[in-house]
Amino acid sequence: MTTTPNAGTLEAILAAHAGRPGALLPILHDVQHAFGHIPRESLAVIGRALNLSRAEVHGVVTYYDHFRTEPAGRHVIQVCRAEACQARGSEALWAHACRRTGCGEDQPTSPDGQWTLEPVYCLGLCASGPSVQIDERLHARVNPASFDAKLDAVEAADAAEAKQTSEVSA
Ligand code: FES
Repeated sequence: MTTTPNAGTLEAILAAHAGRPGALLPILHDVQHAFGHIPRESLAVIGRALNLSRAEVHGVVTYYDHFRTEPAGRHVIQVCRAEACQARGSEALWAHACRRTGCGEDQPTSPDGQWTLEPVYCLGLCASGPSVQIDERLHARVNPASFDAKLDAVEAADAAEAKQTSEVSA
């Protein structure tokens, strides 16, 4: 989910964690869940609430691959590139996913904003890799053909939703 940063939402997240020890990571998770990424302008606000410098918060955000500093595309795809999935072909799948989405190592989000493609290092399905997560949904034993089919299904669902919306507003 990607939304515009909203001060009220951020304050509510901070209030929910007020006084809790080790609150930084849970706060960052909640902020990313609410905004789709960690907005730059939230770093100082989070730091002030936790008595940390902006640089300390930024250091934690950039340390963990999980946290995104730029807005994500409409759909987030994570391809597992850890060892067990690599042994089952995840590097070839990653290369295919880059071609299919128009994303890459240096450009995680496609130019049309449709996809964000991220590497992850274990999705908990090691025995049945290559593993992929599309939005909130996990998929096992993914190959290039089944990857394309899953993305086709996402695009078809988007098109159906857009059609329904235009009919309602007509
Ligand atoms: S190594 Fe890929 S899911 Fe664990």
